[in-house]
Amino acid sequence: MIISVCNGKGGSGKTTVAMLIALAWQGSSKRRVGLLDLDPQQTATQWVGVTGAPVAIAKSGESFDVLLIDTPPRLESRELIDAVKRADRVVLVTSPSPTDLFTSRTTAEAIKREGAAEKARILFNKVKPRTRLSRDLDDLAERIGLPSLKSYLHDRQAYQHAALDGWSALTPEMEREVFAVAMELNG
Ligand SMILES: Nc1ncnc2c1ncn2[C@@H]1O[C@H](COP(=O)(O)OP(=O)(O)O)[C@@H](O)[C@H]1O
Ligand SMILES: [Mg+2]
Repeated sequence: MIISVCNGKGGSGKTTVAMLIALAWQGSSKRRVGLLDLDPQQTATQWVGVTGAPVAIAKSGESFDVLLIDTPPRLESRELIDAVKRADRVVLVTSPSPTDLFTSRTTAEAIKREGAAEKARILFNKVKPRTRLSRDLDDLAERIGLPSLKSYLHDRQAYQHAALDGWSALTPEMEREVFAVAMELNG
């Protein structure tokens, strides 16, 4: 299964989410999980290199049971378009902030242009505790123009640490949150 994680702009949490989901699956199944880093900034690759985060960085052409693709934050990028086309699932990572709405909508349009709308889902990331009702998220998803996953990720400093160092930074509650996203993507 190939899952491409995308947003036309940087900072929405693509790399963090790709690392967290890779860690979740790697820890919970015997499947081989890889993360293909197509962002020219090579953030995921550097994180793994520097921190030793327990995630397998995939080389192009290498095969895995589950492959997460971290994509460049540029909609015109060939790598991003190819990653959207070859994926079984496309995850549009966005914060629920109105400032992210416009780029996320443009990203959704690009996904639709590639004929990938059916396999695409919005993942809300950096959701502030208690400030958002799920109704608001549904409304935002509608404005962006793609269905959203029911699960989402809160804004938590521990996720920054976990993406760098591994799973031990997470409390059981956070683990459940990340697993819920991983399971929903798998379904
Ligand atoms: N759920 C989250 N809670 C807290 N901080 C987050 C979360 N997701 C991402 N971040 C932080 O936001 C910043 C951008 O995330 P990153 O994954 O690098 O985005 P992208 O790959 O889309 O550019 C980083 O500092 C990261 O640690
Ligand atoms: Mg990144």
